[in-house]
Amino acid sequence: MTRKVITYGTFDTLHYGHILLLKRARALGDHLTVALSSDAFNDLKGKKSHFTYEERHALLSAITYVDEIIPEESWDQKRSDVQTLGIDVFTMGDDWVGKFDFLSDLCEVTYLGRTPRISSTAIKNIHANG
Ligand code: CTP
Repeated sequence: MTRKVITYGTFDTLHYGHILLLKRARALGDHLTVALSSDAFNDLKGKKSHFTYEERHALLSAITYVDEIIPEESWDQKRSDVQTLGIDVFTMGDDWVGKFDFLSDLCEVTYLGRTPRISSTAIKNIHANG
């Protein structure tokens, strides 16, 4: 049986921290779906991404650990994603620890340690100030 994993995020200015997160997420099973925040959902979250959904999608789809990409369009799609995609493991970086424990009646919920000293925000700040 395929063990399916899902994670969510914006993945703007794709960086080393994202790659390590995706590698470890994929290693929790044998199929990784990334729910990639749409531009409209980023607006809703108050997050301004440098790259468009299509550009972020193109980057992520080149990553060997990513098997499937779906759009993330709302906060409350997670339960239905887990059910319709038959997800076994839900995972996020530990900046979200505890926030998605409500899914644990449907699947395993695991938080992965964030890679220190790198983020999309930090990269955008370097460019803004450099
Ligand atoms: N992530 C990580 N290590 C980092 C940065 C991000 O493990 N150094 C993880 C996050 O915990 C999340 C996923 O990567 O599970 C996508 O995070 P995202 O918010 O898109 O990236 P950030 O770099 O955290 O972006 P921002 O600075 O806008 O918050």
